Amino acid sequence: MKLKNIKREWWKEGIVYQIYPRSFQDSNGDGVGDLRGIINRLDYIESLGVDIVWLNPIYSSPNDDNGYDISDYRNIMAEFGTMQDFEELLAGMHQRGIKVVMDLVVNHSSDEHEWFQQSRSSRDNPYREYYHWWPAEKGTPPRRWSYFDPEANAWKYDEQTDAYYLHYFSAKQPDLNWENPKLRAEIYDMMNFWFMKGIDGFRMDVITFISKHDGYPEFPEEYQGQAMIDMYAKGPRLHEYLHEMHENVMQHYDCMTVAEGPGTHIDNVLELVAEDRKELNMNYHFDHQSIGVGDRFIINDDFQNLVKFKKVMSEWDAVFEDKGWGTVYFGNHDFPRMVTRWGNDSPQYRRFSSKLLSTYLLSMRGTPYYYMGDEIGMSNIKFDKIEDYQDLMTINWYNLTKQEGGDLEEFMASHKLCARDNARTPIQWDDTANAGFTSGKPWLKVNGNYPEINVDSQQSDPDSELNYFRALVRLRKNNLTLIYGQYSLLLADDPDIYAYTRTLDDDVILVLLNFSSNERTLALPELIDANFNNASVLLDNYANSEQTQQLGALRPYQAQIIKL
Ligand code: NOJ
Repeated sequence: MKLKNIKREWWKEGIVYQIYPRSFQDSNGDGVGDLRGIINRLDYIESLGVDIVWLNPIYSSPNDDNGYDISDYRNIMAEFGTMQDFEELLAGMHQRGIKVVMDLVVNHSSDEHEWFQQSRSSRDNPYREYYHWWPAEKGTPPRRWSYFDPEANAWKYDEQTDAYYLHYFSAKQPDLNWENPKLRAEIYDMMNFWFMKGIDGFRMDVITFISKHDGYPEFPEEYQGQAMIDMYAKGPRLHEYLHEMHENVMQHYDCMTVAEGPGTHIDNVLELVAEDRKELNMNYHFDHQSIGVGDRFIINDDFQNLVKFKKVMSEWDAVFEDKGWGTVYFGNHDFPRMVTRWGNDSPQYRRFSSKLLSTYLLSMRGTPYYYMGDEIGMSNIKFDKIEDYQDLMTINWYNLTKQEGGDLEEFMASHKLCARDNARTPIQWDDTANAGFTSGKPWLKVNGNYPEINVDSQQSDPDSELNYFRALVRLRKNNLTLIYGQYSLLLADDPDIYAYTRTLDDDVILVLLNFSSNERTLALPELIDANFNNASVLLDNYANSEQTQQLGALRPYQAQIIKL
């Protein structure tokens, strides 16, 4: 890989830090995080060294799905604050050199949005075609699967006009009708409104689902149930719409866009992100997250299968060899805490394994999307009782499983590992009540391990996960090889070790990651033809431990970044 051949971009070189505002910091004691809370923590965010912040939805919403059900796209959710707060937050980020990316949720709105209120009021209302309707006189509509419906049915009958409306998510999240040019124009206008305020980009919620198949045909047998996702992402006009969006909006700004891309795979992602398509910059996929996780998040033996993980990540890297640009992430608000999912959250290994996972994210090719709280090694809360969950997805799946007489014990055990609420527990700031998140009752329980795992105790500890993360951020930012260097996988079949090189011009960096609790000694000269006499360790998560390690002798969950 030659630097001179690379088109450098700020969104390729930046590190994204994701903030789920509801759980970041409460400033007014109502138990819900808010914009003022983020403003109060701006110096902390700056201290991480990250370049871009992605905010989960902060728009007006009745919160059926924590803000992913928007009732007014041009306003701020009352619980989160006001437009003035937002402007202050944006200015505060920009003063610190941090760009702000907003969530764009336009596959669906809230049923409380004015458009939907109008749309459902009569069949000839001017807003009728803003949503997808199926008149009841045509019979029951063809099956569509829903993520959040208690019966997994994506059509909801609405008495008022004797018709069904489509909702891939909850019944309070009706799907918008992109086939209607008026709706598309409204969306582009709204996006321009936010860009004019100065935001730097959008993360686009399930954007691959916006184009529906004409006439809602029955889907083939192999695409029933959860497999429908792949059909949802194959809407015939998806690329036409995204290109149109680019022409109407994105091309006018120096901005970044990233698709949340359910249904994207290595064979179709370039249609979305290759530069010449003029659609989006990046996409994030689910192929690694779904390893070992089946329907309703029931896990199987492959849950931490490293060989499969390496294969998926390496194939995804290869796709962007000549075109497009990738992303890497473990955690976000829809997945468990990375240390529980991919590391080892036992007291013995939690710290090492969480540093190891950060090392991976910040030494791979592709823009890293790093989830708040992972920098201090927050772990899954693992609720014992269904009553503790707030997430409608877990609750609905639990009820469905119960109705079917399914295995609830297995369900609860799997959800301790996979449920979305594990990532949504409040940030653990210090060891005071509620971890310093709120003076009120937190909307979701705080993880009981907060006296031990919190920001405050890690700030001054040179060996903390937090300070290790900061060191990694500095390393990546000062090292174009870690950003743009060619990635080559070594030891593809090793079940414990993830090893690779990153090469840019004559610069070669070797990354060794022991994803296991086994001690492993690697014969480095057999692994790679290089002169190890001049090798220097750039970062090592065991650096401050009792003994200095010999290169390639890896202790449990050890991570080394080595310059050759
Ligand atoms: C993906 C979001 O990340 C998730 O949190 C949400 O529930 C669904 N899309 C529906 O908007």
